[in-house]
Formats: sequence, C-alpha cells, structure tokens
Amino acid sequence: MTLQTLSALLDGAEAAQYAVGAFNVSSLDQAVAVLDAAETERSPVIVQAIAGMSAYDDESRWWTRLRRLTEEYASVPVALHLDHGRTYEDCARAVEHGFTSVMIDASRSNVTDEPASFEENAALTRQVVELAHPAGVSVEGELGTIGGAEAGVSGVVEEIVFADPDEAVRFVGETGVDALAVAVGTSHGSVKFTDEAGGQRLRLELISEIKRLLTGTHLVLHGSSSVPGEAVAAINAHGGDVRPSYGISPEQKSSGIAAGIRKINQGTDSHLAWTAALRTFLHEHPPVVEPSEQLRPAIAAFRGMVAQRMKEFGSAGRA
Ligand code: 13P
Repeated sequence: MTLQTLSALLDGAEAAQYAVGAFNVSSLDQAVAVLDAAETERSPVIVQAIAGMSAYDDESRWWTRLRRLTEEYASVPVALHLDHGRTYEDCARAVEHGFTSVMIDASRSNVTDEPASFEENAALTRQVVELAHPAGVSVEGELGTIGGAEAGVSGVVEEIVFADPDEAVRFVGETGVDALAVAVGTSHGSVKFTDEAGGQRLRLELISEIKRLLTGTHLVLHGSSSVPGEAVAAINAHGGDVRPSYGISPEQKSSGIAAGIRKINQGTDSHLAWTAALRTFLHEHPPVVEPSEQLRPAIAAFRGMVAQRMKEFGSAGRA
C-alpha cells in the first residue's frame, strides 16, 4: 500500500465512525515507535511532524528519511502530515518532501501570535489549498484558537477562542480544506488545565453542531493528550519537574468521536511516556552508557502509549 492522503484515511474513519490518531514525532526512533504500533494494532495512522522541530539540524534530510521510513510500513494505511504549518513556505517544503497532507495554521499571526482575522486566515489557507490539491495533498485548516503552547509554535495562547459553527461553514466554503481543526475546549502541551474539579472539558454540543453543518469536512481535535498522572509522577520522582495538570480523559475523547471528531492529535502523552521510561531507566541503571539500552524502554513506552490510544480511538483492527 502506498502512502495515503489524510482525506482517504479520514473517509474510512467517517464510514465506520472511529477516529485516526495523529501522533507527533521529532526523531526517527519516535516514528518507528508509532509505525510499529500501527502494524501491531492493524491500525491506520497519521505520522505528523512540525516544521523546525526535530532532533536533527537538517530538516530536508530528516523529512526525506521520515518519508522513506513511512513507505516501509506498506501493510497499514499511513498518512504523512505536516502539523501546524505556520507559513505557506512550511507547507510548500512539506509537499516537496512527499508529505501527503499539510496543516496550515493561520488562525494566529506568525509575527505577533495574536489571533488572525477570519479574512487573513481564510486567504492564506486558500493559497495552501491551491498549492496542495493539484499535487494530490490534503489540507487541514484551523478555526478559533486552541490554548497552550505547541512545541515549535512560538507563543502561548492563554485564552481559547472557540470555533463558531457559521464561520466554520464559511471558512470551508472559501478555502476548500479537507479537514478542520476546531477549538472546542482543549489546549496543547504538557501543562494543561489545573482545575481539579473536572479537568479539561470538551464542548461536545459545539462539535455536534459543526458536524451537522459540515457533513463533507473531517473534524480534528488538537491538544488531546490526557496527561497521565503516573507518567508525571515517574518523571518527577526521577529528577524531572513537570507541573501536574489535567488533560482530556479517554472517555471525553470517545464522546468527541461520537459527536463527529475523526482525527485526534496527540503528542504530549507519548512524550511523557518516553521521558518517564528514560528517566526511570537511567536512575535505576547508573552505570549504563550504551544508548541502545537507554532508548529501548523509551521507545517501548512511546509505542505502548500510541497502541493504547489506537484502541481507544477505535482505529485498532481496521487495517
Ligand atoms: P497534545 O499536546 O495535547 O498532545 O496535543 C498535540 C497536538 O494537538 C499537536 O497538534
């Protein structure tokens, strides 16, 4: 099977009412972990990378190798996606490197990081669609602003501007995007909400309303990590310093899928799993300097977290 577009993967998810996980990777080890999980779980998968954010200095070689690696996993449907492209040039480079899907996040100015106007957002998104579609590449846009700091994205948006259903219809009509990230109550990063009463809450009625109006566009949930307390505790018990907070529970994500979410972005939970495993291993094995021994538990923890999410999203067993 050759690499798939985002549209093809999400059409399948829509038909069978599940969601496909989009997992952030910034090194080949992480990409192997995600793709191995997809193979083991027989799950469609979206591997996503952010421009300017990797373990390597040379982005072009990193993206070329990532593309080649994804091609090796021919037995499961894989899309290679640019997450949070902030400029037209980011998206153009991704298309050149064989990504099958790009996100243009023009919901905020990449100069001031302030929310962009609807017109600015739609105009840049439309330009990216005109670049990508003739190349057979899908496009995801963003409406509203999702809170928190995304790694590689410059600032921290403290306040979530929720997506407006009527604007969503206009936005899709004016841009022609295949998928739309909607701000419905989540926030990016490892420090999310600290409200002990209930953690993070999805605006399920808002998802349902947008879905009702936009039957032909796939809805995307960003900032979907759950921030497992055990991982944060393990990191902090072994020299780390991550502020405990609350992400979005697996049950809320299931309700989001039932309301119409088809792509779920997750980076932080896998990063927490990796960091917890690595810190624990190093603490428990002070003399070990062989990198393969150190990385083995980290990769396994990353893979395990991704596999767990594939089961929860209903994508396991669909490939
Ligand atoms: P988390 O930080 O919650 O994992 O979200 C990642 C994300 O939405 C990437 O676009």
